[in-house]
Amino acid sequence: MNSDNQSSRPRGSALGWWVLGGSALGVVALGLLASSILERREEAVVGRLTIKQPVGEWESDNSKWGVNFPREYNTWLATEKMDGETKYGGNVERDHLANNPKLVVMWAGYAFAKGYNAPRGHMHAIDDVKNTPRRNDKTPATCWTCKSPDVPRVMARDGVKEYYAEKFDHYVQDVTNPIGCADCHDEKTMALQISRPALKEALTRQGKDIAKLTHQEMRSLVCAQCHVEYYFKGKKEQYLTFPWDKGMTAENMEEYYAESGHVDWTHAISGAKMIKMQHPDYEVFSQGVHAARGVSCADCHMPYKQEGGVKFSDHQIQSPLLNIENSCQVCHKWSEKDIKDRVYSMQAKHHEVMDAAEVAITNLHLSIGEAAQKGATEEQLAKPRELVSKAQMYWDYISANNGFGFHAPQESVRVLSKALNIASEGRLVLAGVRTKLGLAAVASTPDIGTKEKAQAYIKPYVDAQNAKKKAEEAKAAAEEQQKKQVKNAPKMKTISR
Ligand code: HEC
Ligand code: HEC
Ligand code: HEC
Ligand code: HEC
Repeated sequence: MNSDNQSSRPRGSALGWWVLGGSALGVVALGLLASSILERREEAVVGRLTIKQPVGEWESDNSKWGVNFPREYNTWLATEKMDGETKYGGNVERDHLANNPKLVVMWAGYAFAKGYNAPRGHMHAIDDVKNTPRRNDKTPATCWTCKSPDVPRVMARDGVKEYYAEKFDHYVQDVTNPIGCADCHDEKTMALQISRPALKEALTRQGKDIAKLTHQEMRSLVCAQCHVEYYFKGKKEQYLTFPWDKGMTAENMEEYYAESGHVDWTHAISGAKMIKMQHPDYEVFSQGVHAARGVSCADCHMPYKQEGGVKFSDHQIQSPLLNIENSCQVCHKWSEKDIKDRVYSMQAKHHEVMDAAEVAITNLHLSIGEAAQKGATEEQLAKPRELVSKAQMYWDYISANNGFGFHAPQESVRVLSKALNIASEGRLVLAGVRTKLGLAAVASTPDIGTKEKAQAYIKPYVDAQNAKKKAEEAKAAAEEQQKKQVKNAPKMKTISR
C-alpha cells in the first residue's frame, strides 16, 4: 500500500495552535485547514493500489479481499462490535417502538408498527434484515439490495429487473456476506465505485455525468447507494427507485410522490393515504454546513487511523462520537468534551421539536379515526387526511434520517416545524367537523404508554382493515372470474354463427 501518499496529509495537531487563537482567526484557520485536507483527499490512494492476490469480479467474500488489505479488513470486522452507546446513537440495539410508542400509532396498518430498531454496525445487516418482523413471504428481493456485496453479484448473474421482481426468500442461500469491499471498491484498482444501479439511474436522471464525479464526491456517494430515501416502483416490478427527479428536499419529494401517485399504505385508524420515508441520510446531510464545505461522509465516519507508521481509512464505520479524536478533532480544535456537549445540545433541541410534531400527528390520526366512527363523511375527512399524511411525510423525512439533527441542524428543525404546523392546521380543520358531530375539538389520548399497549390499541383497527382488504380481494377475484366467462361467451356465439 502506498503509505507515503497517506502520511503526507497534514496532521491536525501541527496546525492546532492556529485554530485556538481567537475566534475570527479560528474561523479562517479552520477554513484553510479543512480545505487543505479536502484537497489532499482529492489525491486518491485508491485506484492506484496493486493487489497481490487478485480477487474475481463481484467477489463477495470479504476475507479474500482482506488478505491484501489486513488493516482495512480488521477494522471492517470491528463493525460487529456492540460496545458503544452515545446519548441517541451508537452501535447498540435500540428498540424505537419501545422507546417511543407513539410511533406504533403513527404507523398503524404498516409493518413498521411491528418492529423498528436503530441501525447497528454493517456486519449485522444480513441477520437484521432476516429477523425483522417487517418481513414475510411476500417481501420482495429488493429488500436485500442495501445489505450485501452478493447483491451486485446476483444482479450481474440474473439481471437487475429480474432480481427486483423476485421474492426475498428466493435469495436466502445466495445473499450471505454483510456489506463489504465489493459494495464500494472496484476489484482491480480498488477505486471507489457505485455498484448499485438505483444511484446511477437517479444521478443520470438528474443530468449528472457518472464518469465525471470527483473523488471527494465519491467519498459520500458510496454511502448514498444505501443511506437514502427510496421506494419500490411498480407492484410487480418492485424496482428500487430514488425519488430525486425534482431534487432532494422534503418539498421536492412531496412533489415527486404527488405526481407519481405512489402510496405506501392506508392508515388503519385515520384512513389517510401515507408515504413512509426511509433514512434520507445523504439528502439531509447535503443541506448542512459540512456538505456545503465539501466534507464527506467518510471524513467523519471513516477517518484516517495510524498503525505502525501507516495511515489508512478506518473501516469501522460507526458513530463519530465514539471516535472524536480521529474524526472531528482533525478539523476542530475543541476539547472532546466541548464537541460532545455541542452535539448533544444540538440533538436535544432537535428532539424537542420532533416530539412536539409526533404528539400533534398522533393526535390527528386518533381524532380523524374517532370522527369517522361517529359518522363524519369522506368529504369532511378529505382535508384532514391529506394534512395528516403530509405532516407525517415531512416529519418522517427528518425522523427516519440518521444523525439526530446533527447532519443539517437548521434544515431538520425547519422541516419538523413545518410538519408540526401542517398537523396543527389539520387539527383546526377537523375541529370544525368534530364540533358539528358533538365531539370535543380533539380526541383524548388512549393509554399507549408502552409498545405493547400501543400495539394492542391499534390491533382492532388493523384487523378490521385486513378483513376489509380480504373481502375486497375476494370480490375482485370473483369479478375477474365473471369477466373471463363473459369473454368466453361471445367466442362460442361466433362459432355457432
Ligand atoms: C461503505 C464503503 C466501503 C466499504 C464497504 C469498504 N471500503 Fe475501503 N474505502 C472506502 C473509502 C470511502 C475509502 C477512502 C478512499 C479514499 O478517499 O482514498 C476506502 C479506502 C480503502 C483502501 C485504501 C487505503 C485506505 O485505507 O485509505 C483500501 C485498501 C480499502 N479501502 C480496502 C477495503 C477492504 C479490503 C474492504 C472490505 C473488507 C473495504 N475497503 C470495504 C469505502 C469502503
Ligand atoms: C450496501 C449498503 C450500504 C452502504 C454502501 C453503506 N451502508 Fe451504512 N448501513 C447500511 C445498513 C443496512 C445499516 C444497518 C445495519 C443493521 O442495523 O443491521 C447501516 C448502518 C450504518 C451505520 C450505523 C452503525 C452503528 O454502529 O450504529 C453507520 C454510521 C453507517 N451505516 C454509515 C455509513 C457510511 C458513512 C457509509 C459510506 C462510507 C455507509 N454506511 C455505506 C447500509 C449501507
Ligand atoms: C474535514 C473537516 C471537518 C471534520 C472532520 C468535521 N468538521 Fe465540523 N465543520 C467543518 C467546517 C469546514 C465547518 C464550517 C465552519 C466554517 O467554515 O466556518 C464545520 C462546522 C461545524 C459546526 C458548526 C456548524 C453548525 O451546524 O452549527 C459544528 C458544531 C461542527 N462542525 C461539529 C463537528 C463534529 C461534531 C465533527 C465530528 C463528528 C466535525 N464537525 C467534523 C469541518 C469539519
Ligand atoms: C461532520 C461529520 C459528519 C459527516 C460528514 C457525516 N456524519 Fe453521520 N453522523 C455524525 C454525527 C456526529 C452523528 C451522531 C452520532 C451519535 O449521536 O452518536 C452521525 C450519525 C450518523 C448515523 C447514525 C449512527 C448511529 O450511531 O446510530 C448514520 C447512519 C450516519 N451518520 C450516516 C452518515 C452518512 C451516510 C453521511 C454522508 C451522507 C454522514 N453520516 C456524514 C457526523 C457526521
